Amino acid sequence: MAGEARDLMNKENVCIRIDGVRKVFNGRNGEMVALNGVDLDIHDNEFICVVGPSGCGKSTLLNIIAGLLEPTEGKVYCNGKEVTGTGTERGVVFQQYALFPWLTVKKNVMFALEMRGVKGKEAETEAMKYLEMVDLAKFADHYPKELSGGMKQRVAIARAYAAEPQVLLMDEPFGALDAQTRTQLQTELLETWQKKKKTCFFITHDVDEAIILAQKVIIMSARPGRIKRIVDINIPYPRTQETKMTPEFIELKNEIWGQVYQEYLEVRK
Ligand SMILES: Nc1ncnc2c1ncn2[C@@H]1O[C@H](COP(=O)(O)OP(=O)(O)O)[C@@H](O)[C@H]1O
Ligand SMILES: [Mg+2]
Repeated sequence: MAGEARDLMNKENVCIRIDGVRKVFNGRNGEMVALNGVDLDIHDNEFICVVGPSGCGKSTLLNIIAGLLEPTEGKVYCNGKEVTGTGTERGVVFQQYALFPWLTVKKNVMFALEMRGVKGKEAETEAMKYLEMVDLAKFADHYPKELSGGMKQRVAIARAYAAEPQVLLMDEPFGALDAQTRTQLQTELLETWQKKKKTCFFITHDVDEAIILAQKVIIMSARPGRIKRIVDINIPYPRTQETKMTPEFIELKNEIWGQVYQEYLEVRK
């Protein structure tokens, strides 16, 4: 990148820059363009939600930012440096997260703390704080196989938070959870984000969830995935469940749903 571009990036506090990303998969039926011409700047401490029809390339984009997939064309930068693989400043939570089955819940979380140099008793105390956050302190000494799917996902979330990444990349992390747990985790994620100032890139198929969480909702088009629209959500934080009853929320919901629905129809054509 030219020096000038990098300077501009620092001035704007760009945390992640997605620059002309295209991704082609070589599948069973030949080449498949999953993403085409995706450009996006994600600023420090920004909360971005991504919505779009199934198969439009949301997970592909997240995996490219995480450094788990390489773009066919274009580049991704994190703090001005080209992404060429995974990095501890970028933490990922998938919908189904693999915990270490041979470690207890607490040890799973401690693993993330030890990775960033927190050791011994301190790691244990910290791990318990993160488990309390997801309401699982009582299960600290259980093994993952003794927990329900939703509980395992909460451990995975606690572990991702414990790693204290600068950027949280979340791919439908609450998608498989019951409504009550989902609401609780949304609230906790917002509190964590406000307290610890993180950059969040969060994929969801739930428009309500996107509006409750995000400062900006990115609507992706049907395949090949492009950014169709960016909708600013100017509802002040803290947002609560009552926020969903306000006229501004309902108006945003109708607008975003309308856009996403058009793309669903494209997929079905
Ligand atoms: N590893 C892969 N090989 C081939 N095709 C893939 C691969 N990963 C994803 N795809 C295809 O790319 C498109 C986008 O997938 P994905 O990013 O998972 O969409 P989304 O997360 O929006 O549902 C889909 O058509 C999917 O089948
Ligand atoms: Mg996906």
